[in-house]
Amino acid sequence: MSNAELSNMLHETRSFEPPAELAAHANLTAEAYAEAKEDRLAFWGKQAERITWAEPFTEVLDWSDAPHSKWYVGGKLNAAYNCLDRHVENGLGDRVAYHFEAENGDQRDITYAELLAQVCQAANGLIELGVKTGDRVAIYMPMIPETVVAMLACARLGAPHTVIFAGFSAQSIEDRVKDCGVEVVITADGANRRGKASALKPTVDEAVAKCPGVRHVLVVKRTGQDVAWNDDLDLWWSDVVEHQSTEHQCEFFDAEHPLYIMYSSGTTGKPKGVLHTTGGYLVGVSYTHWAVFDLKADQDVFWTAADIGWVTGHSYIVYGPLANATTSVLYEGTPDTPHQGRWWEIISKYQVNILYCAPTAIRTFMKWGRQIPEKFDLSSLRLIGSVGEPINPEAYMWYREVIGGNNCPVVDTWWQTENGMILISPLPGVTAGKPGSAMTPLPGVTAAIYNEAGEPVDKGGAGYLVITEPWPAMLRTLWGDDDRYQNTYWSRFPGVYFSGDSAKLDEDGDYWLMGRVDDVINVSGHRMSTTEIESALVSHPMVAEAAVVGAADAMTGQSIEAFVILRESAKGGGDDVVAELRNHVAKVIGSIAKPRSIMVVPDLPKTRSGKIMRRLLKDVAEDREPGDSTTLADSSVMDLIQENLSSKPSDGG
Ligand code: PRX
Repeated sequence: MSNAELSNMLHETRSFEPPAELAAHANLTAEAYAEAKEDRLAFWGKQAERITWAEPFTEVLDWSDAPHSKWYVGGKLNAAYNCLDRHVENGLGDRVAYHFEAENGDQRDITYAELLAQVCQAANGLIELGVKTGDRVAIYMPMIPETVVAMLACARLGAPHTVIFAGFSAQSIEDRVKDCGVEVVITADGANRRGKASALKPTVDEAVAKCPGVRHVLVVKRTGQDVAWNDDLDLWWSDVVEHQSTEHQCEFFDAEHPLYIMYSSGTTGKPKGVLHTTGGYLVGVSYTHWAVFDLKADQDVFWTAADIGWVTGHSYIVYGPLANATTSVLYEGTPDTPHQGRWWEIISKYQVNILYCAPTAIRTFMKWGRQIPEKFDLSSLRLIGSVGEPINPEAYMWYREVIGGNNCPVVDTWWQTENGMILISPLPGVTAGKPGSAMTPLPGVTAAIYNEAGEPVDKGGAGYLVITEPWPAMLRTLWGDDDRYQNTYWSRFPGVYFSGDSAKLDEDGDYWLMGRVDDVINVSGHRMSTTEIESALVSHPMVAEAAVVGAADAMTGQSIEAFVILRESAKGGGDDVVAELRNHVAKVIGSIAKPRSIMVVPDLPKTRSGKIMRRLLKDVAEDREPGDSTTLADSSVMDLIQENLSSKPSDGG
């Protein structure tokens, strides 16, 4: 986002009152803020009534061992039971849990009773493979119902899952599998993408070949393509699962029993294993899904158009919606296959009432033009949401008008993998939304913006976004690295959670998110670590040194821009070198981490202590005159870089 755009945003005068009809029947009213403020823990105790506890908790929060929280102390529950069994017991077995729709034309409605039966079968299958409570299971899957089944089967057994986004490389799978000691991997032969069957299993094969701890690879047949088979490891999902009993008596676990680990990029090369536990997480996602989306479970069709491989999918495709007995859409495919109106066709087909997606998708639709959504009946929509990156006012207005028909509240929701649940968002029946602002912390959530000294800024001030009190769905630690947990989140300002985001409070006290303050960049709502991409680049024999920065991009929010110094032996390779390096990054991390451009430079700007001044590289990448370079060890470096770039255009592909 440009400075001019940001400054315009902060002087935004437009605001949109909630539609009267929605406000009159909203799940949460303005009193919730006062109620939570008066007694925050009593408020969270009340929200926990949304969940069925096999044994009641005796205390809402134990914070005596901060920053380690225990929520709903002594309570026992099963996440899968809460997502499925209790709804079936309550007579909702025939309600559709998912309208599954795939790019290749497959479609299937799955009811709560059917999903429960499938999850029981999968749980019984996993037991047969020796999976026990506490064992970790990795899931590397397309966006298909079996992915949800696999997750819930793990949850049912108390075996934490780690879902790995299917765009990640073999190396990334290997790192995650080893980091949390996975013994069973669930995958599929392939996925349907852009009209083709793409392969998934070869990537898993390559990874598990280096992971001696993996005992089994369970393979769902999705595309029917030929796959290499390792008799010692591989088993077809259908052979293991389909003959099992559709009944399984679940055990109830402690509220703090681990539910899942989700790896997320941090400021160092190694991804962080964010650990979420059962009770607090389920309360948090159920409450926010109900409050922020004003969910009416017996009427609404809800669609989070994200991938289950990210936290948005975990919280708002799987656990939140299912805990709330919601009917959701599950879509395997891209927005432009077979045509650019695909999303709108799905919305009108299933009469979707609530849509939740990322600004990058909205900007793409803007580029394709309003004539495409205008061909479809979108009048079923009553609320639309945004997540993952700041939504620029222009995209907000387009979304509101063209998709929401000017009568749907737009909820711009701020949160993170670590948060587990939405923390800052308008309440659709209460808040008059401003284009580009996530507005206010939800009832029960206490945030602040701190200056360098750790003092809260006043209205009109800017600084670091912190969360000042624990919340139920917060991460409990980083898997196997408690020190990193403490250092990353709790040491910058002792006692409060440091988000790594900067933010500004406007004159009304509303929050405007302004991006990361660390070495994390956000590409299309996906978090990338510059350090991780740099490590990938220098792992290539041609590269001597690398620096990666995020540059503002109108479509993807930010783009990955790399600067590399080549080894002598590799010099003179031209465009081939750049193409080779981009592919190398895709191979090491995944194609989502491919730099948009790689600029081969003679040197990198460094301070006297050897620290790369990325700020100057960002200026170059964003086509600006580089800023103050007086602290550089060698002040001629920037001239050299610029001369070099003007004489040799970089690869833009
Ligand atoms: O910088 C913020 C941005 O995304 C980061 C979290 O990324 P991740 O853990 O991958 O989770 C994304 C989906 C929950 C944050 O630190 N971010 C997320 N939502 C917003 C946002 N930035 C601005 N506005 C948002 N609504």
